[in-house]
Amino acid sequence: MSETQKTATLTIDGATYDLPVYSPTSGPDVLDIRKLYGQAGVFTYDPGFTSTASCESTITYIDGEEGILTHRGYPIGDLAGKSHYLEVCYLLLYGALPTAAELEDFESTITRHTMLHEQMVNFFRGFRRDAHPMAIMVGVVGAMSAFYHDSTDINDPRQREIASHRLIAKMPTIAAMAYKYTIGQPFVSPRNDLDYASNFLRMCFAVPAEDYEVNPILSRAMDRIFTLHADHEQNASTSTVRLASSSGANPFACIAAGIACLWGPAHGGANQACLEMLKEIGSVDRIPEYIARAKDKNDPFRLMGFGHRVYKNMDPRATVMKESADEVLELLGVEDNPLLQVAKELEHIALNDPYFKDKKLFPNVDFYSGIILEAMGFPTSMFTPIFALSRTVGWISQWKEQLSDPAHKIGRPRQLYLGEDVRSYADIENR
Ligand code: ACO
Repeated sequence: MSETQKTATLTIDGATYDLPVYSPTSGPDVLDIRKLYGQAGVFTYDPGFTSTASCESTITYIDGEEGILTHRGYPIGDLAGKSHYLEVCYLLLYGALPTAAELEDFESTITRHTMLHEQMVNFFRGFRRDAHPMAIMVGVVGAMSAFYHDSTDINDPRQREIASHRLIAKMPTIAAMAYKYTIGQPFVSPRNDLDYASNFLRMCFAVPAEDYEVNPILSRAMDRIFTLHADHEQNASTSTVRLASSSGANPFACIAAGIACLWGPAHGGANQACLEMLKEIGSVDRIPEYIARAKDKNDPFRLMGFGHRVYKNMDPRATVMKESADEVLELLGVEDNPLLQVAKELEHIALNDPYFKDKKLFPNVDFYSGIILEAMGFPTSMFTPIFALSRTVGWISQWKEQLSDPAHKIGRPRQLYLGEDVRSYADIENR
């Protein structure tokens, strides 16, 4: 933690307390309240962590007001346009863009860790065929702790690195296997001559009777989806990974916890929920009915794919994703797709509606990613697993950062207790 000259003064019942104030590279100043309970005997109250920085980090920065997202200082638009997923993985993990030799070495390492232990195939067979692929992923990734014992010692930096490589490399294989299992097709093994995105597409769409010819535009679009989801600072699933890790849990268990959190419709599950919503709306003439429902305080319905806790401007990932959607839909010749018509009209209406404008509710990345994935042939149930595999590098980078900070401690929030005060236990006959 950097030294600071600034302080904030807090007054409680006439007593004053000086709180150190830190100035980050970018973003608002941060008040250090760590000693507050010891000095003043009070807690702070911030459900949903809307004003709380939970850690120091040097990985990702978001300015939600301006719609800026950078990884290690590089804007997401540049990375999505000029870089590719595995290079971004290297950047997130190691803090700098790789040289050509470093990248080649990293790509080779990841490629050579893509296979799963053969015995792990048995886990898949234990699931019902109609299981959601996210349920399978939570289970199988958690089960990796039972297979890769040589990379679960979190105090050994080399083991941490091996676990990182394994997770990044095996996640597409696991997601593709989860998909194949739910549609009753045989698993397709990874192929070392294909790049990361092409390999994933082939593992999902090839069948023994016919190999899958990877179209470079689709593979580029897939890679871009991975890149745009790679990290997003202290979001709910990343904070879950950090909290799980704070107790010393092994990396596979921590990432399984992150996958579980990501599954929810307010987070990664929004891409599936968004596409299902577009299908439910069905035609442009029904949009006003759904806009009215989204505005109705008594109706729990929300426009999925709109709004974000941090972005109060256009989600910069959505801008790039929208371009990708146009490219992919043109390639596949589905520009007239009714779903796309609904999406475009909904976007137009919402962006011009005072309710959405006043609340700064813009389309987020999930609004467009679902449209691309659907056009590529993925069922909606695969949208969130694809998000999970993309975000794995972010989770792992944040996990590594946390463990290399000597000051890290177990995460243990306090509470504002509003339950009963101490009362006497009444025997059952006297209640
Ligand atoms: N449709 C209609 N109204 C909305 C929406 C929406 N999608 N999102 C927020 N609002 C309204 C809320 O009703 C609330 O109104 P109020 O102030 O009158 O009560 C106001 O906007 C603020 O909403 P909160 O829920 O307080 O904002 P929060 O920051 O907690 O939630 C969230 C952010 C969860 C993303 C929310 O916007 C949402 O549920 N969106 C739909 C789900 C979604 O697309 N999630 C993906 C997030 S991006 C990601 O994970 C990659």
